[in-house]
Amino acid sequence: MHAASTTHPVGDRVRPADAEWWRQAVVYQIYPRSFADSDGNGLGDLRGVTSRIPYLASLGVDAVWLSPFYPSALADGGYDVDDYRDVDPRLGTLADFDEMTAGLHARRIKVIVDIVPNHTSSRHAWFREALASPKGSPARNRYIFRDGLGPDGAQPPSDWVSEFGGPAWSRVPDGQWYLHLFTPEQPDLNWDNREVRDDFLATIRFWSDRGVDGFRVDVAHGLAKNLAEPLAPVPGMKDLIEGTLPPGSHPLWDRDEVHDIYAEWRRVFDSYDPPRAGVAEAWVHPSRRPKYASPDGLGQAFNFDLLDANWNAGEFLRVITDNLADAQRQGSSMTWVLSNHDVVRHATRYGLPPEDRHGHPTAGEWLLSGGTSPRLDRGLGLRRARAAILLMLALPGSAYLYQGEELGLHEVPDIPLELVQDPCYARSGGAEKGRDGCRVPLPWTAAGPSFGFGAGAAHLPQPAWFGPLSVEAQERDPASALMLYRNALRWRRKLQTAESMEWLPGTGGQVLHFARLGGWRCVTNFGPGPIPLPAGNLILTSVPVDGDQLPADTTAWLLTS
Ligand code: NOJ
Repeated sequence: MHAASTTHPVGDRVRPADAEWWRQAVVYQIYPRSFADSDGNGLGDLRGVTSRIPYLASLGVDAVWLSPFYPSALADGGYDVDDYRDVDPRLGTLADFDEMTAGLHARRIKVIVDIVPNHTSSRHAWFREALASPKGSPARNRYIFRDGLGPDGAQPPSDWVSEFGGPAWSRVPDGQWYLHLFTPEQPDLNWDNREVRDDFLATIRFWSDRGVDGFRVDVAHGLAKNLAEPLAPVPGMKDLIEGTLPPGSHPLWDRDEVHDIYAEWRRVFDSYDPPRAGVAEAWVHPSRRPKYASPDGLGQAFNFDLLDANWNAGEFLRVITDNLADAQRQGSSMTWVLSNHDVVRHATRYGLPPEDRHGHPTAGEWLLSGGTSPRLDRGLGLRRARAAILLMLALPGSAYLYQGEELGLHEVPDIPLELVQDPCYARSGGAEKGRDGCRVPLPWTAAGPSFGFGAGAAHLPQPAWFGPLSVEAQERDPASALMLYRNALRWRRKLQTAESMEWLPGTGGQVLHFARLGGWRCVTNFGPGPIPLPAGNLILTSVPVDGDQLPADTTAWLLTS
């Protein structure tokens, strides 16, 4: 038996209960362009979200996080922002945003928006001004411009490679080069420039004044950089995450100075009542996560370890145990994620052969094959996904869900290459298919154009198998994934208790069994054979269970007095 427990530490700050709403919240991620299309232009929009508020309320989520809905050329799915204080006209207006926020708040659902501070888009007014301004000008100093190497400066200033493949520098007509750690349409900002810092403080105030409850911070481990010359070769992100570098030593990622920026943001967050919340997308070694999640920083950080784990009791046990320890150190709550807009959906991952490395290359290979190889066991993947979500929702801390996972959707692997939108595909020279397969618009009805997503065709093609998985079809089926999520969230709300858990006897081998306060117990059998059900009243199981045995790949919630 493994034993571990924690209660969340009380810091020196005393905050009213409402200020800490996020600690154990269920947050539903909406990828706005693929959620619901109210005007039939093929792109989801804010009025589409508003029209589905009853759905979100019936699901029982505490908050929604909206991926970027700002004006954008969509070079990277909206993470290339033209204007941080406006709505893409194809997605609506600021008035639509206000109406959506009011509607969500009326149903007690909080609103989190995505802030993308590492880079703007190349269409942003600042970047246009930089291109129109001479070398060395204040306009260029908002970004990272350098002269090239070689006699005529025709070589990039360094050999750095961007995250999606290809060089991290692009040349502008007057011969200078600018840095973009993602696509060329996403120039990196210069965070040593006070004007840049002040502008983001203004953006945070802008949305906070409109009633936004929190911010998801994109690439939170970027921003601060050490660009002292000469620009030496840099280690990859993998070395950073695996902790093989001296802490804080990477010139581009996870530098200690980045926390000065978030300390400023925190002062703005705390000037509101209740304080605005933050959650960092920080791909860093676990030992570095607490700083991002600190109450003096963003307050919470995503933990992607569960998303990286195979369906395996030992891997889940290690991830959960390590996270309990992290949460104690960081004074934040734990965060759990199985899927998001950047990874292959977990129902699919769990139906493919396990990975032996980070990054799910098995799933990557499957995507590149158009979904033919290796073989996907759709039924097994979904069964495990159902077991995994009950396990995750029983853990202390907040749970981040990704739109469509409540329908048990699989990844769409066969988007024709000419329709692929994700820049990863082209920038990797076709070595990666990209992330479109989890961004296909949701099916709301069993039939009809775009399965009820909108009045016309959707911006990414939906497969025929979406129909039987639509919301409409699942609402008629008490055994559906949607009904499981609704039941689980209803029970979770009733049973929710202090942020602690304790491993129980029986944990080890293929079984994880833990208790929360108040008699709430969760047991997962990772297989391959059935196990005796522990004592207690059965309240929810991931698949129907008969008798006193818990079948393989199944989770049960029990109540003991
Ligand atoms: C992380 C986002 O989740 C991803 O979708 C995006 O491509 C990169 N950051 C760059 O902004």
